[in-house]
Amino acid sequence: MKKVTAIYPGSFDPPTNGHLDLIERGSKIFDELVVAILRNPEKDPLFSLSERRSMLEALTSEFHNVRVDTFDGLTVDYAARMKASAVLRGIRALSDYEYELQMALMNRKLQPKLETVFMMPAEQYSYLSSRLVREVAKLGGSIAGLVPEMVEQRLREKLEPALKLESARKSKTGKRA
Ligand code: PNS
Repeated sequence: MKKVTAIYPGSFDPPTNGHLDLIERGSKIFDELVVAILRNPEKDPLFSLSERRSMLEALTSEFHNVRVDTFDGLTVDYAARMKASAVLRGIRALSDYEYELQMALMNRKLQPKLETVFMMPAEQYSYLSSRLVREVAKLGGSIAGLVPEMVEQRLREKLEPALKLESARKSKTGKRA
C-alpha cells in the first residue's frame, strides 16, 4: 500500500501546545509527518531556526513517524521534494479560515495534486498562537499550560535578562515594576 506523507509547515516561534496537539493528531492519520520549519530571512524570530528545530525534535521524539526539518522557498516545492501528498494545517477559529483558504487554494493552483488537510486542535488551544505566547512572555505574564515546559523554560532564559533590565529601569525612574 502507498505510504502517505504529509508536511506540517509553519514558523513555530515558539512551538505551542496547540502545535503539539496537531502533530499528535496528524501522526495518527498519516504514515509519515514532517514538521517543516520555514526559514524566513524577512522575519526576525525570537528563537533561531536551530533552537526551534531542537525544541521540536525533543518534543516530538515520542512519535516514531514524525520528523522535523527546515525549508525555504515554496511549500509546494518542498512537499514535492519530500514526496508528500498532503499539507497539514490547523484551523482554530473562523478568523483563521480566510488566510488558510487563500493559502490552500494558492497551493492547489501551484500544485493541483497536493491536498491541504485542516485539523482542529483541542478547544482549550483555540485562542492560542505563537504571537500571543511571545507577547505575554515578553511582558512577564504566565504562559504555563500553553506551551510545553521545555519551551516555557527556554522563553524564561531568553527573556529574563530583558525583563530584569526593564524592572530595574522602572524602579530607577520611580515607576512600579
Ligand atoms: O506558522 P505560519 O507562520 O502561519 O506558517 C505560514 C507558512 C510557513 C505555512 C506559509 O508562510 C508558507 O507556506 N510559506 C512558504 C512560502 C510559500 O509557499 N508561499 C505561498 C503559500 S500560499
